[in-house]
Amino acid sequence: MRIAIVLIIGLLAGALGGIKAYQSFSAGSEVPHAVMWMMRYHFGAVGDAIKAGQCGPEAVGSHIDTLARMADDIEPVFLPMGDDLDAPFSEHAKALRDGIQQMQSAVGSDCKGLAAARGETFEACKACHRDFK
Ligand code: HEC
Repeated sequence: MRIAIVLIIGLLAGALGGIKAYQSFSAGSEVPHAVMWMMRYHFGAVGDAIKAGQCGPEAVGSHIDTLARMADDIEPVFLPMGDDLDAPFSEHAKALRDGIQQMQSAVGSDCKGLAAARGETFEACKACHRDFK
């Protein structure tokens, strides 16, 4: 009986280990892309809203909030890159978060401020892509 229990526990632990290994493998390959594509979608949605002259919280609030959450995921899913790359990568991620924060403060009836903040944020996207993509 005791041997059977030990065997079952061993099998379960083995299966769990396999699932865990599979999860970290698939997270390693897909999640960084997913974070970037989600950011692109929400960033684009804010751009469309600006073009439509709709810059109030009901039109852009949740897009910018999701953008902020995705930006918080950048370092956990991309790092470590190793060597001296992590620090400059984080600088770019921080610049992005600063831009998104400016977008959050610029939400209002006037689209000019939001467009300017979005433009600055886009510079942060491009700067990191220039160095790391
Ligand atoms: C801190 C660095 C960094 C910032 C900031 C950043 N990106 Fe990226 N992005 C990357 C890297 C690295 C890749 C390449 C990922 C790969 O190929 O594995 C990438 C790839 C992408 C891709 C292609 C995804 C794919 O499947 O290869 C899109 C779309 C994208 N980024 C959108 C954005 C947008 C929009 C922003 C700004 C709102 C942004 N990124 C900001 C680092 C960054």
